[in-house]
Amino acid sequence: MPLIRIPKSWEILDPQITSETAFLNRRRFMTNLIGAGVTASLLPLTSCQSSDSSKTALDKSSTQAYSGLTRNSNFAKVDRAITDEALATKYNNFYEYGGTKSIWQAAQALPTENWKVEVAGLVKNPRTYDIDDIYKKFPIEERVYRFRCVEAWAMVVPWVGFPMKLLMADVEPQSNAKFVRFTSFYDKKITPGPGLMSQFYPWPYTEGLRIEEMANDLAFFATGLYGRQLPKQNGAPLREVIPWKYGFKGAKSIVKIEFVEKQPATFWNTVGPNEYAFEANVNPDQPHPRWSQASERVVGPGNSWSWETRPTLPYNGYGEYVASLYR
Ligand code: MTE
Repeated sequence: MPLIRIPKSWEILDPQITSETAFLNRRRFMTNLIGAGVTASLLPLTSCQSSDSSKTALDKSSTQAYSGLTRNSNFAKVDRAITDEALATKYNNFYEYGGTKSIWQAAQALPTENWKVEVAGLVKNPRTYDIDDIYKKFPIEERVYRFRCVEAWAMVVPWVGFPMKLLMADVEPQSNAKFVRFTSFYDKKITPGPGLMSQFYPWPYTEGLRIEEMANDLAFFATGLYGRQLPKQNGAPLREVIPWKYGFKGAKSIVKIEFVEKQPATFWNTVGPNEYAFEANVNPDQPHPRWSQASERVVGPGNSWSWETRPTLPYNGYGEYVASLYR
């Protein structure tokens, strides 16, 4: 159970505001598409496709194992088995490297050496961390979280990393910081995107949270999974994991964290505001405009039509931690 605590000034609930910048970005994106003869019905979407990539042998030497890792017992219980590592690391969404689930090899182009993460905007201590500073500064633990993609597939992943609130305590958001924006690595020469549609996408990939969502006990920065450092295809060296929201909220390969006053424009919400909400909490009663969210398919061996189906849980089963944020 989460401890009862008094919210800090930067954790006070604020109604969601669509900023002028977010609105203008969306309008510009739609205008570009229409100008190029692309109608809304052709808007690219995350696709639910089967993959036989699990058959590919996992290269265990590709990332280093953590030693002395402790599993946080508060976040260890789930209602189903942990997904096979070979599936979680070979069935991915990472649009910078292509629009299919089989991008793990293409993602090896991501240059992770000398990685830096800039923390900027409305904070008392703006700073740029070397990734090694992050590894040393924040106590690393393991948490087993359910993971639910907006495409209605689900996994259970043992993440390694640290709670986002520890980084917040280090940089100290100012009282007028109401949102946070995460930006993923992007370099046109290295991240070709998913084919022809890529030119219309609002790169770099960005995501955002309300500040009190970031301060929630569950909000996590992952640096690893399955006891190892994150493989590139899963968002090395640092990604967000927000287990009560759809997976697209978890930006991979983060290079910038910015504290802002207004709700920031984000990647999928700009591409399809009616399909990918900024809030994006897992909700069985709110269908995606083109498919139901009432149930989910648990990623397993074989093709996606043979996977087990389970009812979707509100907040992906994490209501006791987060429902109070939305009252
Ligand atoms: N982050 C970036 N930078 N680019 C992406 O395409 N895809 C998102 C999210 N983070 C994405 C991203 C989506 S749609 C999902 S479901 C998860 O990453 C998939 O994470 P996984 O490949 O580790 O399962």
